[in-house]
Amino acid sequence: MHVFDSFAGLPPSESDYYQAGEFMGSLPEVQRNVSAFGKIEAVTFHPGFFADTLPKSDLQPMCIWMDVDLESSSRDVMTILGRLPVESCLFSHECCPEYFLPTGIAAARGPDSVMGPVLDAFRNNERDITGTFISGNTGAFWDRNRGIPVMPVNELIRIKDLVQS
Ligand SMILES: C[S@@+](CC[C@H](N)C(=O)[O-])C[C@H]1O[C@@H](n2cnc3c(N)ncnc32)[C@H](O)[C@@H]1O
Repeated sequence: MHVFDSFAGLPPSESDYYQAGEFMGSLPEVQRNVSAFGKIEAVTFHPGFFADTLPKSDLQPMCIWMDVDLESSSRDVMTILGRLPVESCLFSHECCPEYFLPTGIAAARGPDSVMGPVLDAFRNNERDITGTFISGNTGAFWDRNRGIPVMPVNELIRIKDLVQS
């Protein structure tokens, strides 16, 4: 797992809602938590703002999990969407069920919405975006024609119950 974060909170932005520095968790604090609850040896940390760290990285992600709050940060992350295998998916922690319509993905654009850059990046990489709401604030997006759909949580729970019964 490769973790990209400023470890200094959100960057300055045009948002009236979010403040620079918000959600700051220092690198030592995050490393302590990962050591306590996970396997630190499986994680590589890339401290810095995405605009600085992502262009320097040649990572080929198998999957992207994004939790970045800002449109500008989403735009920076989406510069690597083309490196994500077309079968794979993007998870975002800034979703609500209303984004996922039978007619497609619908989400407002603005400084506090990550969805504009996601829609643009899929289109620019010739991927026909589709997706599903998962739970909480989490949604998943993939290419309608070539992507492997993410199973909704309630279906996974049904399979678990069937296997156990
Ligand atoms: C809401 S927090 C989520 C943190 C973590 N996923 C969690 O659940 O605790 C948003 C995170 O995105 C990071 N972030 C947002 N925009 C960034 C950017 N442009 N460059 C680096 N980090 C950024 C912030 O530092 C913050 O840690």
